[in-house]
Amino acid sequence: MKYLIANWKMNSVNLDLWEQEFLDFINSNKDFPQPNEVKLIVCLNLYDYYVFSEKINTSKNPIFKNISLYAQDVSRHEEGAFTGQISSKFLQKIGIKGSIVGHSELRKNGDSESNVYEKGLKLKDEKLSNILCIGEDLETLKNHNKKSFLLNQLEAFCKNGVKPDLLAYEPIWAIGTGVEADSENISSAVSIIFDFLNENKINCPVLYGGSVSTTNIEEIISIPGLEGCLVGNSSLNGEQFAIIASKIKS
Ligand code: PGA
Repeated sequence: MKYLIANWKMNSVNLDLWEQEFLDFINSNKDFPQPNEVKLIVCLNLYDYYVFSEKINTSKNPIFKNISLYAQDVSRHEEGAFTGQISSKFLQKIGIKGSIVGHSELRKNGDSESNVYEKGLKLKDEKLSNILCIGEDLETLKNHNKKSFLLNQLEAFCKNGVKPDLLAYEPIWAIGTGVEADSENISSAVSIIFDFLNENKINCPVLYGGSVSTTNIEEIISIPGLEGCLVGNSSLNGEQFAIIASKIKS
């Protein structure tokens, strides 16, 4: 099984158009991977969620119908006076399947390692899945501190029964820059992550995120150990997302 995650961030996506572009591609590509071959997830804002979930629920296309919808963030608090935040209870109530936690764009805005852990805990409490994002910045990479940086992020999250359900290695310097990490860099991160997961008896798919596109997906997905990708910019167009999904098939 491979995984392909779209992170639409705060972009306005024309949902009718996205659906049409996606369906046009899969209808003209009969060998498009089935839901048991590639799991498709879209992380969207909650305003789009209502419209998009309706489209999915009423769709006659089994591939489109099997897209899972996730949030992009969740509150680390239970409930109360936290203006603008969304609790895991609320996500659960409206039918969202899980959420990204620890995306670098949120870490940059103040999410500490303990915040990320608490968000994971809140999702677990509601039996929702997490997609944990980890990754180093350019300075850390240049200073050869990548290993300790990634291990610190993993250790801070994996405790008291909290563990990643999907784990995306997303080097900050590759996100939204158009410069994807090279195979050597991704491979070394994957092996650091696998050593940690094995030592801690955690079984979870490891993905890559950062400037994934229709042109580099084949090279990226051929890196041993990688089971999928998390895609930002290239997921905003339904056809491009479908092309990436078609190339990710194992
Ligand atoms: P990108 O975003 O594909 O636009 O680099 C990836 C991400 O933020 O997860």
